[in-house]
Amino acid sequence: MNTVVLGMQWGDEGKGKAIDYLAGAFDVVTRFQGGHNAGHTVYYQGQKVVLHVLPSGIFYPACQAVIAHGVVVQPLQLVEEINNARALGLSMQNLALSENAPLILPFHQQLDVVFEDSRYQRIGTTRRGIGPAYEDVIGRRALFIKDLLQEEVFRSKITSLAEYYQRLFTAHGHAAGSFDQALDQYLQAGTFLKPYVSNTTNLLQHAFQDKKNILFEGAQGTLLDIHLGTYPFVTSSNTTIAGVFSGTGLSPKAVDRVIGISKAYATRVGEGPFPTELKDESGRMLRERGNEYGSTTGRPRRVGWLDLVALKYAVQVNGVDSLFITKLDVLDELDEIQVATAYESEDGSGDRFFVHADALSRVRPMYQTLSGWQTNLGAIRCLTDLPLQVRSYLSFIEDFTGVGVSHVSLGGEREQTIEINR
Ligand code: IMP
Repeated sequence: MNTVVLGMQWGDEGKGKAIDYLAGAFDVVTRFQGGHNAGHTVYYQGQKVVLHVLPSGIFYPACQAVIAHGVVVQPLQLVEEINNARALGLSMQNLALSENAPLILPFHQQLDVVFEDSRYQRIGTTRRGIGPAYEDVIGRRALFIKDLLQEEVFRSKITSLAEYYQRLFTAHGHAAGSFDQALDQYLQAGTFLKPYVSNTTNLLQHAFQDKKNILFEGAQGTLLDIHLGTYPFVTSSNTTIAGVFSGTGLSPKAVDRVIGISKAYATRVGEGPFPTELKDESGRMLRERGNEYGSTTGRPRRVGWLDLVALKYAVQVNGVDSLFITKLDVLDELDEIQVATAYESEDGSGDRFFVHADALSRVRPMYQTLSGWQTNLGAIRCLTDLPLQVRSYLSFIEDFTGVGVSHVSLGGEREQTIEINR
């Protein structure tokens, strides 16, 4: 079954763990959007590893790991990530990188920082240059991995782009940093990456025709989607189902199943509305128990109750077939758990999600209180051993969203996952 795995919240839902758990059953795992703003945490041979651009399938040598053209790539960062993976003993022969993946260049990173520090557009980005790199794609001036492989082409294209950025930085009252040193580093990275580069659309099309099992690995989450998220506090790509098709070159016919990943509570990093945010002691407790610190930036994450209004929206816009609920064990100590089931707004109350930040920042969440389980879930391995309160919590989510829970995760390790077959 070709399967798409997508985040249902604002990222950090535990997709790394979920994808790593699922990946063993797939022939191909492909990333299709985002860049090294993502941080997918997995445990490999007892060691914590954070992947930023490499697909989680990289840990399975028989699985082809693909970075498709929807992903923006900072070549120096990718070289480092490949070297780190090799140091873990992985051969990396199963990696394919799209020749058409847009490049993140030093100007992009610099511009991201300039905007973030300028107050008038403070999003709380990861400062990795993701937004400006995608802007260049939309603006039709981007450079691609394939450009990096032809020195003269790269030198010529980068020179004209540098002039463009020179003018842009001057207009913002900044000097553009010199690209001269980075140019050689980028070209060296191109030489390093060359053996991995191919036309990944062809590769994926062949895999599909040959009836290989393909896993599509989403990054970030639905509420950070450029079109369907809490704009403008979003990332610059389609983190939702649409990104699969534009980012790989496969059609909806290549997708059999969509799994939505959601934490049993909610978190957000960066700016933007978060209706169920907890700013009190319970929020602090969840942050510590859940180790809610950014895996890419180390920033403390904002923490809140599960927002079922938002989750139902995410299920609907992505056509989710089932949910993978993560970090249930983080709620172990609570005697009561709240879930938001409606919003109160100027228009009255209802369970409609407000996508734009202005409207969403004015809603007041209405909660339903459910019983906690006050049991340590970490060692439980089958559904029937889960306390009744946990099963009621899961049923409540299923009834509200209209889709079943297919997996629950009770800790960071692969084995701390229960698959629910109905
Ligand atoms: P950017 O993707 O770096 O441009 O950041 C835009 C917004 O998306 C900010 O609020 C970031 O904190 C958020 N963001 C980007 N990547 C991730 C992620 O992998 N997890 C959680 N939030 C993210």
